[in-house]
Amino acid sequence: MRKLLLAAAAVAIIASPGIAAAQSPLVIKFSHVVAEKTPKGQAALKFKEEAERLLPGKVKVEVYPNSQLFGDAKEMEALALGDVHFISTSLSKFDKFTKKVQLFDLPFLFEDNAAVDRFQASADGKALLKSMESKNFLGLAYWHNGQKQMSANKALIAPGDAKGLKFRIQQSDILASQFQTLGATPQKLAFSEVYQALQVGTVDGQENTWSNILSQKFHEVQKHFTETNHGVIDYMVLVNAKWWNGLPKDVRDGLSKAMDSATKTNNEVAEKLNTEARAKIVASGVTTIHTLTPAQRAEWQKAMKPVWAKFEGEIGKDLIAAALKANTAKTN
Ligand code: LMR
Repeated sequence: MRKLLLAAAAVAIIASPGIAAAQSPLVIKFSHVVAEKTPKGQAALKFKEEAERLLPGKVKVEVYPNSQLFGDAKEMEALALGDVHFISTSLSKFDKFTKKVQLFDLPFLFEDNAAVDRFQASADGKALLKSMESKNFLGLAYWHNGQKQMSANKALIAPGDAKGLKFRIQQSDILASQFQTLGATPQKLAFSEVYQALQVGTVDGQENTWSNILSQKFHEVQKHFTETNHGVIDYMVLVNAKWWNGLPKDVRDGLSKAMDSATKTNNEVAEKLNTEARAKIVASGVTTIHTLTPAQRAEWQKAMKPVWAKFEGEIGKDLIAAALKANTAKTN
């Protein structure tokens, strides 16, 4: 897989600048795996609107939601090959490419979304956008989704309740370790496969944000949700670096401006869409949402904490410290 991606990246280095020059208007494909009624779905549409407004006749942006064009397994490879030009990938799906971005998966690292935002805006956060440049992937922006909630067909109130259950996770060794620490079994599955896996019982539970849960109807196949807020799902918007750098300057500048607007839209709507999604799930009456007392939540935090020590070598103690600083104060 690694070899394949490196080879693909090499092909893209040769092929991509030509793509930019050859087409008029330049067709830009933006692929993602979630529904349009999610923060990422809305932001991708805003990017299209702004890019076409700022660069009339020069670019045409085609947005492909819901893994229509490429799902989790293929989108990085497709970006390397120049088959897609923009992707917005969960920060939990990069551990094959960089160990640093795994930081975001450490359970209970950030106290809230504002802390995540402060860290991403810091020098250390911004540096991570460039951490895959040697592999020809360039991060243009972070987009927020929000905090993850856990679910299963039994109530998960104490960490011990997860023992023996199988949980769907994203492509992340830290998330695997998080569930192993609870005595549960993690199963890495592409996002597009989760609903069915829950429905037929291939897995017993999952963790995701309210907007993803509602739009994928996970609540219809899970009897119990627990508002754990134990970790974050956010995104990095990525381009093929060689393709990006080979674009005419006016096009790159216009796309950068469109990206700024899309990022603003994303970050304005993320919290609201998750809050609304939660309310709709409550109103549906088909599942139960449990809230934890501070003492109960502290039990989950304690149970998952050993994961940090396991990965601090790969991530770097300094980076973890920088992230923690964002919980309390303005960062660099
Ligand atoms: C997931 O796989 O659960 C998420 O990363 C999907 C997404 O892009 O929000």
